Amino acid sequence: MSTNQLLEAHGKAALIFGAASGIGAAAAEAYASAGGQVMSADLAPQTPSSRVAPIECDVTDEASVGAAFAACVQQFGRIDAVVHSVGVPSVGPLASLSLADWRRVMDINLTSAFLVARAAWPHLKASGGAAVFVASTSGRNGGATATGPTYAASKGGMINLTRYLAREWAADGIRVNAVAPGPVMTPLMASVDPERRAAYAKALLTGRLIEAEELGAAIAFLLSDHARSITGAVLNQSGGLVLD
Ligand SMILES: NC(=O)c1ccc[n+]([C@@H]2O[C@H](COP(=O)([O-])OP(=O)(O)OC[C@H]3O[C@@H](n4cnc5c(N)ncnc54)[C@H](O)[C@@H]3O)[C@@H](O)[C@H]2O)c1
Repeated sequence: MSTNQLLEAHGKAALIFGAASGIGAAAAEAYASAGGQVMSADLAPQTPSSRVAPIECDVTDEASVGAAFAACVQQFGRIDAVVHSVGVPSVGPLASLSLADWRRVMDINLTSAFLVARAAWPHLKASGGAAVFVASTSGRNGGATATGPTYAASKGGMINLTRYLAREWAADGIRVNAVAPGPVMTPLMASVDPERRAAYAKALLTGRLIEAEELGAAIAFLLSDHARSITGAVLNQSGGLVLD
């Protein structure tokens, strides 16, 4: 059986926040390759390919998130899958962090997940669909000064939001999962200096940075019917950086 057959997204539609770049773009491509229709909701208007429809959206803005859901329903008539793949690092150490920056990163990384989840619920309830949140190893192991305390706290919050929603929405037939990647080679990572990137790769048991496509395939799997027994899970896709 081919991967596309395995993922089986024919006749389904996904709304992916952050699909203009990196992990979100890879998830959009994987879902489209499996036969699904995809809309990218992102500050940036570009999409990974012509198979993905764009809607400009600021995930920190309640009205903008609502408009993205409305546009997706208008275009595809349904929403079976929702992915949140928007996040920015903060800076450490904690003593040098301003309240304004704490709030900015929390807004982008975590409050946005609440806004997306709340807007997603009626659509996923109607379709019996699934959601995937892109967390991070930082949300599991406490992170590091390079990405700062707000990043670690926001990703930890996202992981527990995922678990909470898996329980609350189970009766509605909605599955909710997270992926927790280690360092992934995306534009976000390209801005890190090469020496630090090499150190990140060396720290992984697999010895290399993770490719965005690996995350895209995992997300498409978690959204598919083949993952119908998986909910409340946090997929450890860290190259062995964190061992369960
Ligand atoms: N790259 C890594 O090493 C890595 C590791 C672990 C977790 N993650 C997480 O994966 C997710 C995606 O990261 P990536 O590496 O693909 O980053 P990326 O920068 O390549 O993509 C992020 C996308 O989010 C969009 N975006 C930013 N702010 C937005 C906003 N307010 N509203 C709407 N869209 C917005 C950007 O335009 C961009 O298209 C993030 O949550 C990140 O924390 C990344």
